[in-house]
Amino acid sequence: MQPAYIAHETAIIDVGASIGKNTRVWHWVHICSGATIGENCSLGQNVFIGNKVVIGHNVKIQNNVSVYDNITLGDDVFCGPSMVFTNVYNPRSAIPRKDEYRETIVENGVTFGANSTIVCGITIGRFAFVAAGAVVNKDVPPYALMVGVPARQIGWMSEFGEQIPLPLEGNGRYTCPYSNKQYQLRNSQMECVSK
Ligand SMILES: CC(C)(COP(=O)(O)OP(=O)(O)OC[C@H]1O[C@@H](n2cnc3c(N)ncnc32)[C@H](O)[C@@H]1OP(=O)(O)O)[C@@H](O)C(=O)NCCC(=O)NCCS
Repeated sequence: MQPAYIAHETAIIDVGASIGKNTRVWHWVHICSGATIGENCSLGQNVFIGNKVVIGHNVKIQNNVSVYDNITLGDDVFCGPSMVFTNVYNPRSAIPRKDEYRETIVENGVTFGANSTIVCGITIGRFAFVAAGAVVNKDVPPYALMVGVPARQIGWMSEFGEQIPLPLEGNGRYTCPYSNKQYQLRNSQMECVSK
């Protein structure tokens, strides 16, 4: 029986890996046996997916990204080209640390710009946006725009992918001109208040 996903002939998909329908697997990808990948994802050239990895639906992983063990990606996550995840906080070649992997949780809708680096053991809140080249080493609030090394929050990003202009005028809400979704700050956290 034909698999429900599409894979280039150079991809190596270990027996046991679970891959959802309409997911596209491009050239020289390696997916380990324990991985679970949702539907409608795209794995670009030279992507590596480890064993203890769960990836949601509609996730786009661009060329040259490795998703190592103990990394979880929600739905609609975008990983820009050559961005880097990690799973050992303080690696030393001579000291085994396979029992010390730290979990990285990426919530739904997050974007990682090209060449950004995520130091392990943190949670990236939903729809956060990590700019190209940023190095993130602390938890990131939902909708935060993170820039630089080390990454600092310089604003908030809408689900559409535009900065939310501050201060919020009028009724304290911002309406996205593209999606009509409304955003509001509550307790210094950005929330999307429309369904
Ligand atoms: C973050 C991003 C979306 C720009 O958002 P924006 O709302 O238009 O932000 P601006 O360009 O107005 O920049 C705001 C400030 O952040 C700085 N900045 C923006 N992106 C930055 C980055 N990647 N690294 C460091 N500083 C950055 C700007 O220089 C500016 O600083 P200033 O106020 O001192 O002039 C864009 O820079 C980015 O990183 N996109 C990711 C591109 C990518 O990797 N795509 C992958 C698929 S090809």
